[in-house]
Amino acid sequence: MSELIKDIEIVDKEKEACEVTNVSKDNAVAGQRKLYIESYGCQMNFSDSEIVASIMEKEGFGTTSKFEDADLIFLNTCSIRDKAEQTVRKRLTQFNKVKKEKPSLMVGVLGCMAERLKSQLLEEEKIVDIVAGPDAYRDLPGLVAEVDDGSKGVNVFLSREETYADITPVRLNSNGVTAFISIMRGCDNMCSFCVVPFTRGRERSRDPHSIVAEAQDLFDRGYREVTLLGQNVDSYKWSPDNSLKGKAQIEKAERKGKDIEIINFANLLEMVAKVHPDLRVRFSTSHPKDITDEVLHTMAAYENICKYIHLPAQSGNSRVLELMNRTYTREWYMNRVDAIRRILGEACGISSDMIAGFCTEQEKEHKDTLSLMDYVQYDFSYMFYYSERPGTLAAKKYEDDIPLEVKKRRLKEIIEKQSAISLERNKRDLNKVFKVLIEGTSKKSDEQLKGRNSANKVVVFPKENYKAGQYVNVLVKECTAATLIGEVV
Ligand code: SAH
Ligand code: SF4
Ligand code: F3S
Repeated sequence: MSELIKDIEIVDKEKEACEVTNVSKDNAVAGQRKLYIESYGCQMNFSDSEIVASIMEKEGFGTTSKFEDADLIFLNTCSIRDKAEQTVRKRLTQFNKVKKEKPSLMVGVLGCMAERLKSQLLEEEKIVDIVAGPDAYRDLPGLVAEVDDGSKGVNVFLSREETYADITPVRLNSNGVTAFISIMRGCDNMCSFCVVPFTRGRERSRDPHSIVAEAQDLFDRGYREVTLLGQNVDSYKWSPDNSLKGKAQIEKAERKGKDIEIINFANLLEMVAKVHPDLRVRFSTSHPKDITDEVLHTMAAYENICKYIHLPAQSGNSRVLELMNRTYTREWYMNRVDAIRRILGEACGISSDMIAGFCTEQEKEHKDTLSLMDYVQYDFSYMFYYSERPGTLAAKKYEDDIPLEVKKRRLKEIIEKQSAISLERNKRDLNKVFKVLIEGTSKKSDEQLKGRNSANKVVVFPKENYKAGQYVNVLVKECTAATLIGEVV
């Protein structure tokens, strides 16, 4: 068993690393041109790749899992930290070797790095034929046609309206049980460290009826869990008034006292939860300034809304939070956590993102992050050290003055603290029974299945005759910091 535990832990650590890639699978039929898509960054990007695959499928492209076989390679990129961009540049060098042998190969850079660098990317990376930002994917067939005609294709226009609501994503890399649904795009917050508002544009919410229809369709096709995605889901706001483009305009109309019908995130959650009691609903990401008690009460009211909240704190110190322009204090954050505990209880999973070594962060302010972690008792966290991003508020206003060794040491302390807390949190689950949705076989052992409980903890147990997509009750008998291990009862 101990070997198994070790293996499981490694797999889960890999899964948790934020910059994992996600590669298209083989669905091309004979005679079709082949598209290879590789995605970096967040789930929004993975979800966008499924929209891209759908748009390109209509153009006669089938997907492949081997880039060597492709006629067209799309890299859906991330700019969140410098490392993410470096990874993409290395990958382009590898594709260059293929292109030398197959000059007809087309290479497109999509996503946030495309939006950040625009046509500069064509000059810096000679291999690139197409540059398309996150709101330009409907134009991809046109851009491919331009390359077919011997030129290069660039579209980095950011829209106030585009939500791709009418496009049914082609599920890439799917386990057939869980799927992501984008409910909004862009971000209107201006966290000073963050490049996303520049790469994804203004915030806009997708028509809730198209979201419910997508969830219903997934359920009918056997899926049992959907995750509603947005950079800041709690600020979801939709109005049937077609003249109002984007959240900013809706809020302006509200301020003017206009009587408009509005669907907020709590309303949307309820609509999706009602699709079917056997369809689990998750969501990410919640912004601490926006998460309301109304959302927490809606979560409490529906068994199928999973009791898990990703609530990135970034820092535990109010001065640093102010510099980060997060618009909440340590006390506000703690109050939101208290509300979660009050309304949803101890069993609700909570996770965070943390940034170590932001501009001017003092040692005692770093300690505040560690003490916040003790207070909240996060089940897990995504943890980073600060990486200055060109064009952001922090890059313009503050000096990136914390030496790399200090950033790394602080990050290590945060990671060690989190591992200890994760193990403690998991130990509390020993000898308890959880309802688990089975997602498939555990990567390291065909004899074991894995799934997650409502609180988003990975649970591994012997296969017997159970199958992906079923709900089972699992008694937890062992655990690591990353995984609960048990058997079906
Ligand atoms: N919308 C989400 C975050 C999206 S980015 C939210 O507001 O929480 C995912 C995470 O990357 C962020 O939460 C932050 O912890 C991290 N991140 C963003 N910019 C970063 C930077 N410049 N350096 C280090 N980490 C960063
Ligand atoms: Fe970035 Fe802040 Fe928007 Fe999250 S809420 S995407 S961290 S600007
Ligand atoms: Fe990266 Fe863009 Fe997502 S910068 S984290 S891919 S929104």
